[in-house]
Amino acid sequence: TLEGYAHYMLKEIYEQPHSITNALRGRLDKDNATAKFGGLNLTTQQLRSVERIVLTGCGTSWHSALVGEYLFEELARIPVEVEYASELRYRNPPTDRDTVIFGITQSGETADTLAALREMKRKGHHTLAICNVIGSSIAQEADGGIYLHAGPEIGVASTKAFTSQLTVLSMLALYFGRLRHLSYEAGQRIIAQLEMLPEVIQKTLECHEHVKHIAARYADATNFLYLGRKYNFPTALEGALKLKEISYIHAEGYPAAEMKHGPIALVDEHTPSVFIVPNGTVYDKVLSNLQEVKARGGPVIAIVDHEDPQVANLADEVIMIPQIEDFLQPIVASIPLQLLSYEIALLRGCDVDMPRNLAKSVTVE
Ligand code: F6R
Repeated sequence: TLEGYAHYMLKEIYEQPHSITNALRGRLDKDNATAKFGGLNLTTQQLRSVERIVLTGCGTSWHSALVGEYLFEELARIPVEVEYASELRYRNPPTDRDTVIFGITQSGETADTLAALREMKRKGHHTLAICNVIGSSIAQEADGGIYLHAGPEIGVASTKAFTSQLTVLSMLALYFGRLRHLSYEAGQRIIAQLEMLPEVIQKTLECHEHVKHIAARYADATNFLYLGRKYNFPTALEGALKLKEISYIHAEGYPAAEMKHGPIALVDEHTPSVFIVPNGTVYDKVLSNLQEVKARGGPVIAIVDHEDPQVANLADEVIMIPQIEDFLQPIVASIPLQLLSYEIALLRGCDVDMPRNLAKSVTVE
């Protein structure tokens, strides 16, 4: 039931402190500074000899995969490929023997993801599901996997499943990292960050009223750009997808630096750009991308994680999120983006939970 919320999407956005707690539960092994999973169905030796990881999925789950790629590279130093399941199933990529495939899927019923996993399994690869719905087709067919335990996601636009996917991928990257070079201290630090997440998300939700005011100013726009770099490039893609699917406003997400290779031509005073610009290694770079947009008269909505006079001077709107290390920023920065699309869709009179032309699980090709 809606439990007093106006829509399932809103309820699910607000459930995230809780759904992330459930994703973390029983999976952090502090003594060994690692994570643990019950159902991967591979021995430690087999996991240690994984040479390559393929992450596949569709839509929002594909965005999670993109974050997963950066996580595995940085924390575990394992080469990763991210594939749209719909492409992977009809391609014939050469894959090494020690390649493991993760299918990322909320519903566990997405036809393309199921077919891609089947094809990889047929080739003899170990297939794993990162899945929310217990007993779903993909959960059953995969050789092993990890459940999100996010609870039912009813709103067609994925919200809590996305942040739970990212939480699980972070723990997985920690786990694979600890099998390899990642130090005990680094593992401890990552665990401490993961443990902070539920509280941090709770705090982030306090931006709702402010985001609602911002939504009112931009609800009539016909185009939006979402820009971020590194871990927040997929955040930008996901922000744009959320806006598209429930408000029917055209939106594009890009790595912020790609702007100058074409999309910047779209910038004018009617095209807002949402910049995800928290502190981190690419902060200065994103800031200069923001300046480029501002210089062309585009309104800027900036997401920051500290009092930031430089951004405040340039941006038209500033949304503050709590600080967290960069590899977890997509989880936190997605919250205001979910709320922004929700509020804009409401103002435009859209059916937030059942957007036109969309189904919760895409069981046909
Ligand atoms: C976006 C959305 C879709 C799904 C995609 C994959 O909000 O809901 O893009 O993410 O259809 O679905 P699952 O994760 O169930 O395989």
